[in-house]
Order: sequence, then C-alpha cells, then structure tokens
Amino acid sequence: MTTTFPEGFLWGGATAANQIEGAYNEGGKGLSIQDVMPKGITEIPTEGPTPENLKQVAIDFYHRYAEDIALFADMGFKVFRFSIAWSRIFPLGDEETPSAEGLAFYSRVLDELEKHGIEPLVTISHYETPLHLARKYNGWTNRELIGFYERYCSALFEHFGGRVKYWLTFNEINSVIHEPFMSGGIPTPKDQLTKQDLYQAIHHELVASARASKLARELMPGAQVGCMILALPTYPLTPDPSDVVAAMLTAQDSYAFGDIHCRGEYPGYLLRYFRDNGIELEITAQDREDLKNTVDFVSFSYYMSICETADPAKKTKGPGNIMGGVPNPTLKASEWGWQIDPQGLRVALNDYWDRWQKPLFIVENGLGAVDKLVEVDGEKTVVDDYRIGYLNDHLVQAREAVADGVQLMGYTSWGCIDLVSASTAQMSKRYGFIYVDRNDDGTGSMERYPKKSYGWYKEVIATNGASL
Ligand code: BG6
Repeated sequence: MTTTFPEGFLWGGATAANQIEGAYNEGGKGLSIQDVMPKGITEIPTEGPTPENLKQVAIDFYHRYAEDIALFADMGFKVFRFSIAWSRIFPLGDEETPSAEGLAFYSRVLDELEKHGIEPLVTISHYETPLHLARKYNGWTNRELIGFYERYCSALFEHFGGRVKYWLTFNEINSVIHEPFMSGGIPTPKDQLTKQDLYQAIHHELVASARASKLARELMPGAQVGCMILALPTYPLTPDPSDVVAAMLTAQDSYAFGDIHCRGEYPGYLLRYFRDNGIELEITAQDREDLKNTVDFVSFSYYMSICETADPAKKTKGPGNIMGGVPNPTLKASEWGWQIDPQGLRVALNDYWDRWQKPLFIVENGLGAVDKLVEVDGEKTVVDDYRIGYLNDHLVQAREAVADGVQLMGYTSWGCIDLVSASTAQMSKRYGFIYVDRNDDGTGSMERYPKKSYGWYKEVIATNGASL
C-alpha cells in the first residue's frame, strides 16, 4: 500500500512581499534593498530606485490580494506562505514605533485568508532588509540589527500573534554565504567582505532568530517558529574518498545553520573552521543563552542538488550553480540551468529528519520556466505539462520520505502565482499555477489566468496527494 500524506497536511503555495506586492512607495513603505536591485543578483545594486525595477509594481498584490487569495482558496489551499515587508512596518528599520498603515495592510491580508479558512505561514524577513539598515549599519555585520529585528518581531507578534500560528525567521538564512547583500543586507562587495565580518553577521542573524523564538514563546503561546534553510544536497562527484570529504565539508556550510537552530550551540566543525581561518567572533554570554532557544520545526526550500570535488581541474561551475557546487553529469537542467533532481528531495528530507528530529516543512519547490499563453476552449491558459511533471515527481519523492518515517508538516510550492524572480528580477521566469499577464519590459494587463497545473494541483490537494 502506498503511504499517503498525513491527515491535516498543509498544502499550499509560497511568495515573498518584494516579489508580489509592488506599491514600493505606497502606504508609508520605506525602501528595501530590493528597491536597488533591478537585476536581482546579476548586477551590482543601483544608488536609488529605478523605473526598470519590475518589483516596484511586481504583480500588484498590494491592491489585488483579495482576488489572488480567492484563487488560492479555489485551488483548496490550506496554507499560504507570504512575507511581511520589514520596511512597511519600520520604513527605515531603526524607528521606535511601527507604522500603523503597514500593520493595517497585513491585517487586511489576514482577514482575507481567514475568510477562506487558509492558514498563514509568515516569513519575517525574506531578502528585504530596509535599505537604511543596509547603508547606515552595513546590514547584519552590525550587532545593532539584532535589536531592530527584535523590535520588528515584537510589533508583529503583538499585532498578529492571535492570528498567525506559523512563523519563519529568515528566508534561506544560509544563502548569506553566497549573497551577502540580498540575504544579509551587507553592501560591502563580496570580494572585499572578510570571513570575519561575514561570520559575525551570520552570528547576529542566528542570535536574532533565536531571540524571535524566545519572544514568540512569551507572547504567543501555541505559535510555532521555524528556521528556513536553502537545501542543497551535496553529492561527491566521484567515489574518490577525497571527493566524499569535499562534499561533506561543503554540506557543512549549510548544516551549520540547522545545527545551531536545532541544537542551540555552534557545532565542532564550525569552530574548527573559525580556528583554521583566524576568525574570532564576538559572542557574549547572553548570546550563548539566547542561542539555546531552538526552533519548533525546520523549513527549507528545495530546487536542486549539487556535486562537489576535491580536484581543482574538475571544479567547473554550471550556469545554475549560483550557490556554488559542481553540476551533476547525470541530471538535466531547467531553462535557467537549475539541475532537476526529484530524488534529492527525499535525500534531504531523510537527512534533515535524521539529523535534527524536528518536524520538517517544504516551503519552496518549483520550476521556473518560460510559459506561453494560449487559448483552449475559448479560455486563455498555459499548457504547462513540464511544470506538472516537475512538481509531481518531487511530491512523489516527498511521499516516499513520509513512508520512510519523516515527519512532514506541509508543502508550499514556490511562486504559486507568477511573480518577479529573485535572482534575475524577470517576470518571464514563471513558477505559478496562475499566469500573470506582465512581461519583462513591464507591459501587460496584469490579468490572472489559471494554467493547466492549477487544476492538477487542485486535484492533488483534494485527494491529499492520492492523485499523484
Ligand atoms: C529562493 C528564494 O531562493 O528561490 C525566492 O527564497 C526565489 O525568493 C526562489 O524566488 C526562486 O528563485 P528565482 O531566482 O528563480 O526567483
């Protein structure tokens, strides 16, 4: 008998404020780092906002949230993951009091979700640090950000505590190693950022995350706080033991974040890395106490696996290996070079469950692809069998992991409605079940059209995965 998904499994979709909301300067919102990233991570940030930045309008969720949430409800979503834009609540980031207008917007979004019986899953910080905190404090390298983040969390927990049960502290917290500006709000160019400063910034984020867990327990009994990790299962390129060790060391770059969130202290291999690289972090006695506030669950994104090798001659970089690693010669890739490995999801789920023994939540997974709007039976749609195939294959592997004994809380596919890509800032890299008529040059009617995958996912949810 095939094991099915557990009862009450949280099926849904995921987004982030800066990729859907638009209204970048409305409602009292301050600027965020995304407002100076018109080309995502492919070019250096601009001085100020520029009109070619698609995120200024994005898919106009700020004004169309009711319509979009109604579509999610029609698909049968049990949960909707979205982020709160920090700069809507604290426009500069270092103010004393939150913006009433910013809080009111998310209250309206929550009203709409409640109307449809959809559980919110809120990311507190998703690649959208207030620009002022980046420019004035050099982002998370500065210890003061812990206090600003804590004040932001207090405002959210006090206002929404009774309405939001599931919280994620930092989106893909481990990505700061490769993307210090987008992930850590650190403007120092990558090649000039010392390991010392990078790991001090990481330490500040980890303490802030632990303090959020502590605060959540005090202010919102019954709430659950999770960390969020970019999962990158790392295989040795060959069976050569040197490659196995190389893969182990690369995997530890990401494991460290989960280990600290789940065990409440630094793992030995990371302390060794600090010693070997002359890194001496400022860690106070209070920090050590704070870190003991571990998470309730571990959430993660999964798009691809990577290989690793000890042989410098084989250390090639594929176009999709934006977080490092070597392409896997056995796998095919998406149009953006992201290698497709459904079984890697089962590997990650088993690995994380064995390692941390905390409930897991897949909060991102999906295929970025070019879609073509066509007419079928007089209705505009996209025949996205490639996306259905991708998602189906991954969900089958998630189901295998559940059969393996992994405790899995839910699955929110990335970009359940088309949105602006994070890495390339394009509209044409689409993930959604719902097509949004907007193009890379900013033209388009903004109309929403269900794709073929919309009906497919509706069926998956209705049958709790039996239709896979
Ligand atoms: C994750 C991010 O890295 O991947 C999302 O959390 C992002 O914000 C998603 O959109 C897909 O990446 P991209 O670059 O295709 O948008």
